[in-house]
Amino acid sequence: KMVPLHTACLLLSLAPLLVLGVPPIWTQPEQVHLSYPGAPGSMAVTWTTFNETESKVEYGLLGGRLFEMIAKGGATLFVDSGKEKRKMYIHRVTLTDLKPAATYVYHCGSDEGWSEVFSFTALNDSTSFSPRFALYGDMGNENPQSLARLQKETQLGMYDAILHIGKPACHSLFQDNARIGDEFMRQIQSIAAYVPYMTCPGNHESTYNFSNYRNRFTMPGQTESLWYSWNLGSAHIISLSTEVYFYLDFGQELIFKQYEWLMKDLEEANKPENRAVRPWILTMGHRPMYCSDDDQDDCTQFDSYVRLGRSDTEPPAPGLEDLFYRYGVDVELWAHEHTYERLWPVYGDKVYNGSKEQPYVNPKAPVHIITGSAGCREKTDRFNPNPKEWSAFRSMDYGYTRMQVVNATHLYLEQVSDDQYGKVIDSIWVEKEKHGFSAWF
Ligand SMILES: *[C@@H]1O[C@H](CO)[C@@H](O)[C@H](O)[C@H]1NC(C)=O
Ligand SMILES: *[C@@H]1O[C@H](CO)[C@@H](O)[C@H](O)[C@H]1NC(C)=O
Ligand SMILES: *[C@@H]1O[C@H](CO)[C@@H](O)[C@H](O)[C@H]1NC(C)=O
Ligand SMILES: *[C@@H]1O[C@H](CO)[C@@H](O)[C@H](O)[C@H]1NC(C)=O
Ligand SMILES: *[C@@H]1O[C@H](CO)[C@@H](O)[C@H](O)[C@H]1NC(C)=O
Repeated sequence: KMVPLHTACLLLSLAPLLVLGVPPIWTQPEQVHLSYPGAPGSMAVTWTTFNETESKVEYGLLGGRLFEMIAKGGATLFVDSGKEKRKMYIHRVTLTDLKPAATYVYHCGSDEGWSEVFSFTALNDSTSFSPRFALYGDMGNENPQSLARLQKETQLGMYDAILHIGKPACHSLFQDNARIGDEFMRQIQSIAAYVPYMTCPGNHESTYNFSNYRNRFTMPGQTESLWYSWNLGSAHIISLSTEVYFYLDFGQELIFKQYEWLMKDLEEANKPENRAVRPWILTMGHRPMYCSDDDQDDCTQFDSYVRLGRSDTEPPAPGLEDLFYRYGVDVELWAHEHTYERLWPVYGDKVYNGSKEQPYVNPKAPVHIITGSAGCREKTDRFNPNPKEWSAFRSMDYGYTRMQVVNATHLYLEQVSDDQYGKVIDSIWVEKEKHGFSAWF
């Protein structure tokens, strides 16, 4: 019990030296973040050091003996492709056999340096669990309001997971020889070290073939975090890369690879025994199929690449709208536009309300939400003054979305405005007695 105290005193007495510009401790863990590997009772811890060290997580149940358990993993060397060829080690450790819904205290690092102490609650793997999410895209350091509120709400235990729908940082992770990436990852640590932080690639990550994105995150599956799926409560959640439709130089085959994977994954999720226990299928991807912003983005075009595919590839590349419709995807989450927009149930550019009075009760097509307004001050997108009839609600306020998958029939979504100090400016209940393709008719 005396040792931590000594260490604390030592650190305190060193503090003035650090301020005076003592070089960084190259073996000190930073940029700590969690992700859910997909297997019940597991959690992945990822962090960075600038020198090679061991990769260890010491952890224990809250209220139990501190750091009584230890898990080891490994590190991969990531050399940024910028001029300086900066080197960093990305450490990954997977904790297993965690008790569902139990809170753990942990730190990570090695005998050459440990992180601060963090805690997380292992996900409850029951299909009747009602998980709560915060979701957003395009969050950067320009608008600290959003970040501060999310930090506090996460630490208060309001969320079970975060869905970051592409484009971490308003700048790009690779910029300034990947120092922007470091800065962003440090900034989100106060959220991401406490709850699983689930991501998908956005357009800004494209430099050097998404290498900063692929190296820094640890998402389930074997696709370097590009596309994957996981389950929580009664939801099956699919994360995908819309970027494969735009950066053909990195390989047109990626469109087809992802499409094949999506089809298989949706097929599996739709097996009667699976859909019965996880009726909700949610997707998240960076660039929307629809939006009514006043720019020239893909989603403003009738023949959006994401929605309808590309005919200029050989062979032509299929889009995602038909695929998601055929497999009865319930809700599609997007970002990219720096605004919030909710759509009436839509398919093929047409509105398919459940009924005129209750459009989201037994909707006859997927529900789309675009939530990319977590803060890029310099670029506020404007709306087209004459939106199409599928546009239900729009806001240019900075903010983010909360979602709860309540049970097999009910899903709740609400939009928080930062400009209005946390006020909820929009909310809907999506209610479905039936899920799957047959629910549309
Ligand atoms: C730690 O990394 C720095 C920067 O890459 C390097 O200059 C230094 O030699 C390394 N030290 C050790 C002990 O590896
Ligand atoms: C998990 O969630 C379900 C549904 O809310 C609840 O009944 C169960 O007690 C929870 N499990 C634990 C270990 O708390
Ligand atoms: C880009 O990265 C992806 C994913 O690792 C890979 O499949 C593809 O071949 C890469 N493309 C190029 C041009 O290096
Ligand atoms: C869908 O429902 C909304 C809300 O009631 C309504 O304003 C809109 O006109 C409906 N659209 C169609 C095409 O029925
Ligand atoms: C599902 O949740 C809704 C909203 O809380 C509630 O009204 C409904 O009774 C729940 N359904 C079941 C089967 O518990």
